[in-house]
Amino acid sequence: MKIAPFETEHFFARHEFSTPYQLCNSDCESVTIDELLAMSGDSLENLGRERLGYTESGGHPDLREAIADTYRNVPPEHVTVLGAPIEGIYLVARTLLEPGDEVIVLTPAFDALVNVFGHVAGPDRLRQWRFRDDGTSWTLDLDELRALLTAKTKLIVVNFPHNPTGYLPSAEWQRELAGLVERRGLWLFHDEMYYGLVHSGTAPIPSMADVTDRAVVLSGLSKTYGLPGLRSGWLVARDARVREDLVNWKFYTSICSPVPTEYLARAALRARETIRLRNVARIERNLRVAEAFFGRWPGLFRWRRPLAGSTALVGFDVPSVSALAERLVREEGLLIQSAAMLGFDDRHMRIGLGREGFDVALDRFEHWLQRSPLGRA
Ligand SMILES: Cc1ncc(COP(=O)(O)O)c(C=O)c1O
Repeated sequence: MKIAPFETEHFFARHEFSTPYQLCNSDCESVTIDELLAMSGDSLENLGRERLGYTESGGHPDLREAIADTYRNVPPEHVTVLGAPIEGIYLVARTLLEPGDEVIVLTPAFDALVNVFGHVAGPDRLRQWRFRDDGTSWTLDLDELRALLTAKTKLIVVNFPHNPTGYLPSAEWQRELAGLVERRGLWLFHDEMYYGLVHSGTAPIPSMADVTDRAVVLSGLSKTYGLPGLRSGWLVARDARVREDLVNWKFYTSICSPVPTEYLARAALRARETIRLRNVARIERNLRVAEAFFGRWPGLFRWRRPLAGSTALVGFDVPSVSALAERLVREEGLLIQSAAMLGFDDRHMRIGLGREGFDVALDRFEHWLQRSPLGRA
């Protein structure tokens, strides 16, 4: 059975490796293997001694322990290491959904969250819980979620810090969502790929893995730690049956994760606070640059400050951001992404705040705008 095209990945596959200036990446700036090993007090020589046999399907015990240590109350056995973070989305959809079950997905969203759950449940069994725009910020209404629930609802899928809006709920709201899921006997898939990227002025919240037994949490090293090329991710689930089923599905998709990835993931977790704080600081610098830029173009863009994560969703008063994006690639070597790919409209764009060179790319965008009819409007 065919699945919907993964628009974001097709777009990045087309442009990411050939466009010099990029404003829409969701990850943070990466490091070399040498830098990572130096930060964690390790060496390439030690990595070289690792034997390239199969690894344990649940993950290397030391890695599971290091991951468990990043939570308040998660034992290593509750962690299942993945072949890649995105694999977790597929494993959870296959594990938690049975024929006839309905799923509610928070949108806009990283397209896999809509497309994979929609594919597995069936498109007519997926309901979208949408962000509201109150003019100056993004908001979410739990009553709207309640109104979407039916007797067949099995699973709610959310992602906080949220890609693309940069939304992060309060701890109180988080508890309310957990309570709702518990009372109704539902499952909550909580995508925490951007965990720990909290901007100053925003109160951090615990991982949902520390809040409710009814959550299955996805996390990994791609975004917060800027290591997407490592393909390191994991799921946390308290329920033993769920974990068994996740691993059974994993046997069909990757069996176990690669030795170099597990080794370097352990190194990354030893240096995790250094890396995270560096990335938060870069996001804050880029946020200041972005706010100054959008402040100079109030008629053309609608800026709502993100609270967390490495992305923001920005209104752009043009007929089609998608069409303009293709033109900017050709004319300026500059990449912007339409929110249409993320289940929103084509008059918003996602910007990514985690990379070095964001200011240079934004400068280039501004010069292009000044020369274009948009800048003279
Ligand atoms: C919300 C969310 N979940 C999961 C993923 C998947 O992470 P990865 O690409 O490292 O597999 C992404 C990547 O963009 C994401 O934004």
